[in-house]
Amino acid sequence: MAQNPQNRHSPSIPRDAQIEKEVENTLKGMTLDDKVGQMLQLDLGQLGRQTFAMKGGRLEMGWSIDSLKLDSTIARYRVGSILNVPGTALTLGEFQKAVPVMQDISMRNLGIPTIYGLDQNHGASYVQGATIFPQPIALAATFNPSLATVMGQICAYESRAADCPWVFNPTLDLGRDPRWSRIWESYGEDPLLESEMARALVRGYQGDDPNHLGKYNVAVSVKHYFGYGAPFSGKDRTPAYISEPMLRQKYFEPFKAAIEAGALTVMVNSASINGVPVHASHRFLTEWLKEDLNWDGMILTDWADIDNLYTREKVAKDKKDAIRIAINAGIDMSMDPYSTDFCVLLKELVEEGAVSMERIDDAVRRILRVKYRLGLFDMPDSNPDDYPLFACDSFAMKSLDAALEAEILLKNNGILPLKEGTRILLAGPNANSMRCLNGGWTYTWQGSNTEDIARHYNTIYEAMCNRFGKDNVILEQGVTYRESGSYDAENTPDIERAVAAAAEADVIVACIGENSYCETPGNLTDLWLSQNQRDLVKALAATGKPVVLILNEGRPRLVTDIEPLAGAVVDILLPGNYGADALAMLLAGDANFSGKLPCTYPKEINSLINYDYKVSEQTSTMAGAYDYDAKVTQMWPFGFGLSYTAFEYSDLRIDKAEFAPGDFITLSVNVRNTGRMAGKESVLFYSSDLVASIVPDCRRLCSFEKVSLEPGESRTVKATIPVSSLAFVGADGKWVLEKGDFVFTCGGMSVPATCTADKKWDSPNILD
Ligand code: BGC
Repeated sequence: MAQNPQNRHSPSIPRDAQIEKEVENTLKGMTLDDKVGQMLQLDLGQLGRQTFAMKGGRLEMGWSIDSLKLDSTIARYRVGSILNVPGTALTLGEFQKAVPVMQDISMRNLGIPTIYGLDQNHGASYVQGATIFPQPIALAATFNPSLATVMGQICAYESRAADCPWVFNPTLDLGRDPRWSRIWESYGEDPLLESEMARALVRGYQGDDPNHLGKYNVAVSVKHYFGYGAPFSGKDRTPAYISEPMLRQKYFEPFKAAIEAGALTVMVNSASINGVPVHASHRFLTEWLKEDLNWDGMILTDWADIDNLYTREKVAKDKKDAIRIAINAGIDMSMDPYSTDFCVLLKELVEEGAVSMERIDDAVRRILRVKYRLGLFDMPDSNPDDYPLFACDSFAMKSLDAALEAEILLKNNGILPLKEGTRILLAGPNANSMRCLNGGWTYTWQGSNTEDIARHYNTIYEAMCNRFGKDNVILEQGVTYRESGSYDAENTPDIERAVAAAAEADVIVACIGENSYCETPGNLTDLWLSQNQRDLVKALAATGKPVVLILNEGRPRLVTDIEPLAGAVVDILLPGNYGADALAMLLAGDANFSGKLPCTYPKEINSLINYDYKVSEQTSTMAGAYDYDAKVTQMWPFGFGLSYTAFEYSDLRIDKAEFAPGDFITLSVNVRNTGRMAGKESVLFYSSDLVASIVPDCRRLCSFEKVSLEPGESRTVKATIPVSSLAFVGADGKWVLEKGDFVFTCGGMSVPATCTADKKWDSPNILD
């Protein structure tokens, strides 16, 4: 919806006059061929060749850029951007050699630098040797946005060291359906948590001035705009059906937060919403993003998604038709990895009048603006000498800190921390694997080469040996993954061996979950954890030895039948290269748990709810003959996580019993560490609108803060929030705050307050 000028969002990024002048000057000198070429992004793998060299009697395979191929693509088609790695992460040296060759050809032939982009999901994960962090879902479990900023800074530094100025991150798809294979790539199910993480990450990656990124910053591409995380079938890249209020109020919010924080580019959801492929939606791309947010950044397709408009979505008759639809909808750059047809067909469309020159100029301005903002015209390549801290110990320590705050204690009957000298049987397929700790987008798309590239980091087995002594740790896995073929393939189990080994142990630590996967290859047919793994836990528990379950998984797989058999449960999600070290420290009590679930952990397949389910999803039996009750179940709720210490909450207060739109309210609560160990606690405040004109959410997270408390220490935690943040999107798609009663909850307490007036916002976004 285009707005009245008085309702306009102030520019998301203030314009820099000098940059705008340079953009116009460059644009003036460009031919139509130059312009359509700028709008294409090709895959790096297409531009090089395999190399072979004998080293120390061993044949070593490598990869090198091919100047002839660059001439026939970048130079000939005036291509504006390159992405990806040729299969596996390159070394720093390989990047530093390849990217300048591309830049050189681009500068010499086009006078415009190329922009090279990579998926760096949890640190610079496509650069061998870089500092790998916990995956986004684990970072979300920290409820600590400052860790996200640090990850963004380190990832930016190490990406820039590899001469890559652009990352396809952060991923802001709300993970609201546990069946989906990409839940772990983003920051959980809640829009506020994800928005806070988004702001923190954009700051970390891009720095404080989106017009002038420094040599330690990279441009982000927030993705996948939007509604990608809610496929009706649960399968990747399939249609979503999302109501207008849900779209605006939940799925759009993290993207809006990122854009307001200065995000320079956006990548689009591959699939469709309510029947409209997002790549074909003028409403979502041009109106909601560019016009309503007054945003002058650049929109990039996802992988070959213009093709998908005719090959899969069937809204276009052929490629040319698909290009016409997508560019007119608002796409600025096409990730068309393997083909230059885009340039030829788009040029024809312009010549035929099916795409206006004005639209092309707008797209090219946006592309050039990003390149100027990155300073690439002045300095197309990084200077390798500027990055002496690449993979330094202090970066690694930050990753360890993040992993320590990410791992979640879900159950503990007193068995943890494990005592010194305890003899431990480590079982399960995740007990000795770097691949499982890291998940997909690690060194390769599916994460399948991690065992080799990350071999000098510690698996859970190695970390446990280091911490508890090799003599005290027995490894007998019982179930193992088959490391080729489908991610979920397992070898024939040998459960008896693991059971026999339990005789030698005081405690069994069963490391179960998933092997790495990503996108469509990670689709699943059954949310239950594999039968072999559940059989293993049942057989181990039958020995009578206490069992600790370590869940190492990208999405919450159902463990309802084996949870009662465990004395303790820890969900480490995907904690990265230092995740096992963190786990050993936490299990030993050297550090305290403070992670909390960023997604609801389901208990049954027919109750895949989120924490903010509609009130009518849970009702009690009504009077009379018939039972119309409804129940929601969950194994562990959103925001749940235990600690080795205890936090006592008291005195929840609100500063105003009545409030009006335009006000701010302050909630406060006392939190005291009543245990014997120092600990961190994420204090979560929720609001509930008791009666509304559409069925209200049962509750919404309205603020959170993580505090650190010594034993006996107490703190008053305050949350000041604008009353406008209590508004919801009504049936007409507009934000509204209605008078009536609210309840605020925190730490098991609640406090009421009343809104005294109605307010409806005419603009699509709340601007005050
Ligand atoms: C994924 C994106 C990714 C792109 C480039 C696509 O398949 O959906 O998340 O950024 O590939 O690698």
